[in-house]
Amino acid sequence: MRLRHVPIAKELIGSNSDLIIDHQQDGVYNFLEIFHNDNPIHIEIGMGKGQFIYTMAKQNPHINYVGVERFDSVIVRALEKVIAEPLQNLILLRADANDLQVIFEPKSISKIYLNFSDPWPKDRHAKRRLTHHKFLKQYQTILTNDAVIEFKTDNILLFEYSLEELSNYPMDIIFLTRDLHKEQIDNVMTEFEEKFSKLGNKIYKLVAKFKEEQNG
Ligand SMILES: C[S@@+](CC[C@H](N)C(=O)[O-])C[C@H]1O[C@@H](n2cnc3c(N)ncnc32)[C@H](O)[C@@H]1O
Repeated sequence: MRLRHVPIAKELIGSNSDLIIDHQQDGVYNFLEIFHNDNPIHIEIGMGKGQFIYTMAKQNPHINYVGVERFDSVIVRALEKVIAEPLQNLILLRADANDLQVIFEPKSISKIYLNFSDPWPKDRHAKRRLTHHKFLKQYQTILTNDAVIEFKTDNILLFEYSLEELSNYPMDIIFLTRDLHKEQIDNVMTEFEEKFSKLGNKIYKLVAKFKEEQNG
C-alpha cells in the first residue's frame, strides 16, 4: 500500500498546502478559515488512500470532511484524488491520531469515522488500537456533545475488543451489526472494505456515543 518513493510523496504534500495540512508541531488549526464556513466537521482517522472520505465529501457538500492519515506514502494517494478533482469541503491532514487534541479545538467535531483500523493483534500493542481508551479520551474532548463514532472492520477480534472498550469507557452503543452488507444499503465502501468483502469476509459495524455524564 505504501509508496516506496517517500521523498516524492513529501514533495507533493509540501507543494499542495491548500489541499493538505502536514502537521508538525503547530497548534490548533482554524478550520473555520480553512473551510470558509461553519458547517459540521466529520473526520476519518486512518483514512488510508481516501476512497471513503472522498466519496462522502462528494455526496454531502454541506458537511466538511477532514481525512487524517499518518503516513506520507499512503496519504499521497488520497492527495492525488484531490488534486485531480478538488472538493471545497474536504481537506487532508497528515498527522498521527495521538495529536488530535493539539490539532482540533475542544467540541469542534461532529462525527469520527474509524474504518478498518489496524488491529494490532498482540496484547502489548493494544495501546496503538484506535479504539483503545487512550484514544477515546481524545475523541471525547474534540467531539461535540451529541456526536457519534462510527466504526467498521472485518476483524472480529478487533470488533469485540472495541465493543468492550467503548462500552466500558462508558459509551452507549446505538447501532451494531455483524453483517453490514446484508443490513445497510446506504453504505459507502472503503478500499479495505472492498478488498475484504470480495474475499467473503463479513463486515462488522457499530455506532457509539459518549454517555451524557461523560460529556462534561
Ligand atoms: C488498515 S488501513 C485502512 C485504511 C482505510 N480506512 C480503509 O478502510 O481502506 C489503516 C490506516 O490507518 C492508518 N493509521 C493507523 N494508526 C494511525 C494513527 N495513529 N494515526 C493516523 N493514522 C493511522 C494507517 O497508516 C493505515 O493507512
